[in-house]
Amino acid sequence: MTRDIEISRGGGIQSLRLNRAAKKNALTAEMYRALADALQSGDQAGDVAVHVLLGSDGVFCAGNDINDFLASARAGGEAPAEDILRFIRLLPVVDKPLLAGVDGPAVGIGTTLLFHCDLVYATPSAAFATPFLDLGLVPEAASSLLAPARMGYARAFELLVLGETFSAERAREAGLVNQIVPAPELEKTVLTAAECLAQKPPEALRLARRLLRADPAAILARTDEEAALFRGRLTSPEALEAFRAFLDKRPPGVPKP
Ligand code: COA
Repeated sequence: MTRDIEISRGGGIQSLRLNRAAKKNALTAEMYRALADALQSGDQAGDVAVHVLLGSDGVFCAGNDINDFLASARAGGEAPAEDILRFIRLLPVVDKPLLAGVDGPAVGIGTTLLFHCDLVYATPSAAFATPFLDLGLVPEAASSLLAPARMGYARAFELLVLGETFSAERAREAGLVNQIVPAPELEKTVLTAAECLAQKPPEALRLARRLLRADPAAILARTDEEAALFRGRLTSPEALEAFRAFLDKRPPGVPKP
């Protein structure tokens, strides 16, 4: 079990805290596994009504660990990709509400997983970015379906293709964030909403959520379509150069000094 995901349960709430601050909470295969295991077991547990996702040290999540992308590319797009896919295939079928509190950067999957959340709270310093194109990749986690549905094609294109960073305010206007709260109040706000949901009649909550959310089969189909393309892109020369450039701390296409 990795220490990079802290899991705690109490009062009907399962909190999942990304806790790899030295690497800006970039997600490794182990972290995806821990998150997926916790979501699955929490969904089955009688003492869990709501899942909450939090970051740490002023960072929500810097996206997938680029070292893992590189390792996966070298293995032909396999290995860690399986753990990512398991996690992102769970997001549309989790049966209990998923809430998130975002402070600081939310990059890649750090933003796209939010489209699967029922409530998202953010601080003024939250920043949402999906630099898939610049990494030679394509959007994932069904964001190519969910983002246009949530914020309209124009804004989804700016976020997912142009690679614009959305401020907390822009994300709120676009419908990705429910409310912006000062950083010291973030976790209290998320937990208060989680407590409120935990007190609702569970079966009514489950049914209401099922009615409100898009068809999971369509989301899974898009997830798989994206994943097939993503896997192909992982091993592309464009992606390999972008990964190496990030890890070498240089712009892509510029030789290492
Ligand atoms: N994968 C692997 N390592 C990562 C990482 C990632 N996605 N994001 C950050 N890190 C590492 C950095 O390499 C650095 O490691 P080092 O201290 O050993 O050099 C450390 O985390 C701190 O990152 P740094 O970039 O110096 O922090 P910052 O505060 O200047 O910027 C971010 C924070 C999140 C904006 C920036 O790290 C970033 O853009 N990360 C990459 C995001 C990304 O492209 N993710 C994939 C999306 S598909």
